[in-house]
Amino acid sequence: MARDEIKVFGPATVSNVGPGFDLLGFALEAPGDELIIRRNGTDKLVLYNQSDCKLPTDPELNVAAVAAASLLRELHSYEGFDLVFTKKIHPGSGVGSSAASCVAAVVGLNELLGSPYETAELIPYAMEGEKVASGSTHADNIAPALMGGITLIRSYDPLDIKHIPYPDDLWCTVIHPFLEILTSESRKLIPQTVALETALKQCGNLAGLVAGLTTGDYPLIGRSVNDSFAEPHRTHHLPDFAALKESALEAGSVGTGLSGSGPSVFSLCRGEEMASAVGEVIKAHFTDRGIDSRIYTSRISQAGCKII
Ligand code: HSE
Repeated sequence: MARDEIKVFGPATVSNVGPGFDLLGFALEAPGDELIIRRNGTDKLVLYNQSDCKLPTDPELNVAAVAAASLLRELHSYEGFDLVFTKKIHPGSGVGSSAASCVAAVVGLNELLGSPYETAELIPYAMEGEKVASGSTHADNIAPALMGGITLIRSYDPLDIKHIPYPDDLWCTVIHPFLEILTSESRKLIPQTVALETALKQCGNLAGLVAGLTTGDYPLIGRSVNDSFAEPHRTHHLPDFAALKESALEAGSVGTGLSGSGPSVFSLCRGEEMASAVGEVIKAHFTDRGIDSRIYTSRISQAGCKII
């Protein structure tokens, strides 16, 4: 018998990861958004918010409902569903809040509708929601939130996404300073053209990062976590960002950068102990400058979005 209700977990994600602007991302084990989807016997999406943060409950403005509607349209389904949100990822924090909910919506609906699609085939529908959130159809949060692990978008047209292997003892700490930065606004700060010299630097670092992750070469990972495209134009909200990176490095971080469009900062570390220590150092950097923050320390999640 068909299920009428499902609960889905959509994980937080770190995108860009230094040189992989719009191309590279990975999933965290926590935090994540929870979404209950249930048939409601109408032909409408009805939204309920059980989160601590504000969310639009108009289906045309809510990113997850936009993603859900695009999947339902594609399947010529006229069924209605309740979407009940318990968001644990604060919108505007830079760890893929909208992607987590969009992915949870399409994964849950796909399951309730008898799994017409493979997981990876759901990416374009989840991206429809992300487009509403950020004004662009990037998938570097969507892909890892859906598929888990570290994902590389080799091409958007056609969509070609691959998992990148990584060392077992790779951990990440994410520090979320309580400042809000909207991706849509933050994307406007990035120049539309780059000099050849800048492009070469970025290509070298992205290739180096992928090679380092694949072979477990930590020094190479460290040398490669640098973004020449977006980060230099986005860190003015974060005081003394160069000093923050320097302190993280001194505390043992492999590589540190802005998570997605920020304000969260990620730091790749070898092992949990190192990740916790680096997290504390970055938190202290913000505290010293009068900014409260929260730390998430996690392995990279192999699972991504899951039904719970
Ligand atoms: N790649 C995107 C950006 C991620 O940097 O704008 C933000 O969601």
